[in-house]
Amino acid sequence: MNFPSLFSPLRVGPYRLQHRVVMAPLTRMRAERTSFAPRALNAEYYGQRATPGGLIIAEASPVMATGRGNPATPGIYSDAQITGWRGVVDAVHAKGGVIFLQLWHVGRVSHSSFQPGGLLPVAPSAVPITGNGMMAMTADGKMVPYETPRALETADVKGIVEAFRQAAINAMKAGFDGVEIHGANGYLLEQFLQSHTNLRTDQYGGAIENRARLLLEITKAAIEVWGANRVGVRLLPYGVANGSGEADPMPLYSHAIKALDALGLAYLHFIEPRSSGAGRAEVNHQNVPSAMVLFRPIWRGVLISAGGFTGETAEAAIAEGHADAIAFGRIFISNPDLPRRLQHGFPLTPYNRATFYGGEEAGYTDYPVYGELERA
Ligand SMILES: Cc1cc2nc3c(=O)[nH]c(=O)nc-3n(C[C@H](O)[C@H](O)[C@H](O)COP(=O)(O)O)c2cc1C
Repeated sequence: MNFPSLFSPLRVGPYRLQHRVVMAPLTRMRAERTSFAPRALNAEYYGQRATPGGLIIAEASPVMATGRGNPATPGIYSDAQITGWRGVVDAVHAKGGVIFLQLWHVGRVSHSSFQPGGLLPVAPSAVPITGNGMMAMTADGKMVPYETPRALETADVKGIVEAFRQAAINAMKAGFDGVEIHGANGYLLEQFLQSHTNLRTDQYGGAIENRARLLLEITKAAIEVWGANRVGVRLLPYGVANGSGEADPMPLYSHAIKALDALGLAYLHFIEPRSSGAGRAEVNHQNVPSAMVLFRPIWRGVLISAGGFTGETAEAAIAEGHADAIAFGRIFISNPDLPRRLQHGFPLTPYNRATFYGGEEAGYTDYPVYGELERA
């Protein structure tokens, strides 16, 4: 019997991927600083990482101004941002790549300095992020305690759904091949899912069915724009990131995943809990459950997993049928030609965490492809 490998083709929605080395969504905070529009430098970075038939999931992009929580993250809610993204998409398509955009609202993981009118950030309930060194970043880069967010009125929740719908339309105008809904990492949709951040008493709070309602309404709105086979969803069951963490994830995530499965999505995308929080620190939690192993039995579609994979562990996950494709984050930052390096067993360039967020070319577009240094 022939087992699939990282380099077997894979159908994702209408796209025929030529390999299964996916570029994970990676916030890099290098958009234009006032319009939050992607610029030529961003197009160069994504173009460097594009391969024929390779899937890139572009970094989390706020769908509306209240969804922002970081400096220089690209948005998808203005004409300038759509135009900027078009440059990125063109650079990826020029190399035969496939590119989805991750749609984002940070909810309470923000600070009033990012918010329109200096208002408090929005959330399902007025529950701040607390504990263990958890600090908010302000628009001028200071670290301060998180503020208590303001709870969204029921009518405003509808406005969030409409913002995601419009963002999905905008992503289509920019030429993307699909969209991914960001339901992970402690951001707004996860705040609604999890019981410690959602104390609501309306139809969006309480029972699991209610807490999952916003994720499903937003996913369905994106489907109305794109069709189900061009929409993916990202989840982090069992994770701890930005103050998230459900006491008993199995019933909640089983419900959400079964409901998503019925929609016939392009894919479901997990972050494995062992690497949750990878954007903030080098973490590798031991003895935590594997999301792909636990939930694969209830997911019939394409499953992508991410989190601390090497070429070898990725091959094993695919050969064993735990996942169909593997998304790589940190090592895709420092290896623009990652698929080729994994395929040929070439050594990997280590990444520099100091240049993950913000800045210009350094640590962004100046990582070499394999062989370049030797030739120089
Ligand atoms: C610099 C950085 C930025 C990230 N930004 C995002 C993001 O925008 N959206 C998201 O869902 N995950 C984000 N993550 C998580 C990654 O997509 C990925 O799941 C994580 O890094 C684990 O994969 P890895 O071990 O291959 O790096 C980020 C991680 C890093 C290191």
